[in-house]
Amino acid sequence: MAALTDPGSFSSFSRCLTRHLHLRLHVDFSRRVLRACVELTVEAREDRFSSLTLDTKDLQILEVTANGQKAEFSLGPKHSFMGTPLHITLPFDLSRGQHVILKVSYETSPSASALQWLSPQQTAGKQQPYLFSQCQANHCRSMVPCQDSPSVKHTYYAEVSVPKELVAVMSAVHDGQEPDPQDSGRIIYRFNQKVPMPSYLIAIVVGALESREIGPRTRVWSEKEFVDKAAFEFSETETMLKTAEGLVGPYVWGQYDILVLPPSFPYGGMENPCLTFATPTLLAGDKSLSNVIAHEISHSWTGNLVTNKTWEHFWLNEGHTVYLERMIQRCMEGEQFRQFKAIGGWKELQESVNTFGANNPLTNLVPNLKEVDPDDAFSSVPYEKGFALLYHLEELMGGPEVFIGFVKSYIQLFAYSSVTTDEWKDFLFTYFKDKVDVLNKVDWVGWMQTPGMPPVKPKYDTTLADACIALCQRWTKAKPEDLSGFKESDVKTLSSHQLIEFLSLLLQEAPLPLSHVMKMQELYSLNSYMNAEIRSRWLRLCVRSKWEESIPMALKMATEQGRMKFTRPLFREVFLFDKYREEATRVFLAHRGAMHPVTSGLVAKDLKVDASQSSSL
Ligand code: BES
Ligand code: ZN
Repeated sequence: MAALTDPGSFSSFSRCLTRHLHLRLHVDFSRRVLRACVELTVEAREDRFSSLTLDTKDLQILEVTANGQKAEFSLGPKHSFMGTPLHITLPFDLSRGQHVILKVSYETSPSASALQWLSPQQTAGKQQPYLFSQCQANHCRSMVPCQDSPSVKHTYYAEVSVPKELVAVMSAVHDGQEPDPQDSGRIIYRFNQKVPMPSYLIAIVVGALESREIGPRTRVWSEKEFVDKAAFEFSETETMLKTAEGLVGPYVWGQYDILVLPPSFPYGGMENPCLTFATPTLLAGDKSLSNVIAHEISHSWTGNLVTNKTWEHFWLNEGHTVYLERMIQRCMEGEQFRQFKAIGGWKELQESVNTFGANNPLTNLVPNLKEVDPDDAFSSVPYEKGFALLYHLEELMGGPEVFIGFVKSYIQLFAYSSVTTDEWKDFLFTYFKDKVDVLNKVDWVGWMQTPGMPPVKPKYDTTLADACIALCQRWTKAKPEDLSGFKESDVKTLSSHQLIEFLSLLLQEAPLPLSHVMKMQELYSLNSYMNAEIRSRWLRLCVRSKWEESIPMALKMATEQGRMKFTRPLFREVFLFDKYREEATRVFLAHRGAMHPVTSGLVAKDLKVDASQSSSL
């Protein structure tokens, strides 16, 4: 029997399962709350079923009914990141297989961890407020009382009332709209998600949104200021979707739209079904960061169809998704490019292992998350140790064409369900039943239950990485008198991918002398690059070399956009420069109120700021 407990949820999945959600949301920008009501269709999984527990976080529960009859409820004590259990007693018993409709009326808190409420000033258009959600990993419960675990899948229908100047979109298919009968100043938007999915994929955005069609099943959405730029940047989307379908089978979600969020969106991308969320930092102007879209598209199979049963098995989502992302790149750019990206990934893994510490159990591929907030555990480990394991198995089992067959069958077998690492591994042994002797030689404990770098380093083709490695070596070995040997043309032949790789390699070395980074700026003009992957790495290098002029630029980038991949290392780097430690803290405290709740919480921990510290420093 598979595990039926989730260390991140109060609910019990052996006793009952949610099959459908019907949401009614009234978006109140003046109070920054959702006034809401949800009907959960819940199936009893045992006889004499008469009570259940839902996950909530900072919700005000107004009333609960079961099939229309009032039901008793109580809230338990609040847990730091899990929130508050909502215990409900039904006024009747159900037998196994019967359903009940539980209706919960509630209101969210202005500080709901899933939501960021932006003032008009914080938007591109400056005229209208904006709301967006980010539910992964455990934040859906701050927006909807539910069984907030990736082990539970349900369909959903939503009706969302918003001021009529604004547009609402959700992670579902649009199902019409109408004037709000209660208020002529508002419109109700309707959405339908017919494919069962976990709660962390519920997503909503409300703002002055516009859209443009870029493919037969794709529109890009954003404030009007970014629509054309986004349409250009993501023009390869349909090719990527077709490539993915060729690799792993049909795309079952109907629409595939992309929404470009305001700069405070904390991630690069988020695979919300039918509507990928993307950071505006992907708008590099040259499509060079489109791998993030290939990644989110890939989640339509690995993550959204086949889902990790708990966040301890997060590598099943992200490792397979990085594997597919790089298979799409292999089809579109060639095998050498995939190899180049795999080398970059190994280095990202090395970075994460260095920051967490090589003995830190959170660097296990399958960590124990009892009493651990998945947001705190987040790193490149599930992505890149996961990818490295799959690539290692690909080599052992006979190459990419053979291994993608396994991935496709794994998806077919487990589609519409949630899986553990053991179930994945059992199927691997079944699929490759003729090669069990080879699989038995894999150091499974080393790969999965041991911290630090993997037990085997796969061999990668270095053709595209060689130029980056060579230039990095020249700079790290250069004496002051050698600096005149560097030329503007050193970087002219590097692609932006290679420039990123060159800077990443330098970040793994000891800090360069100040004279070196100043020379680098003089020759390569790196300060003028606006590509966020380049700019963030360059500014980190400058701060490490104690170049004081770079401090304002680093803090500006850390606050002008809020993608945690950039914001956290930039703040941390300035914080580690003793002379500017207080400045880092001061800038953080000054911006904290306008930051995304998850980002501000994690940066506060990084900078050792406690929750109560005010901005009067
Ligand atoms: N699902 C993740 C983002 C995420 C993970 C949000 C955990 C909250 C908790 C998304 O698919 C992702 O991995 N995004 C990456 C893209 C990259 C690996 C190409 C990102 O945000 O940078
Ligand atoms: Zn992902």
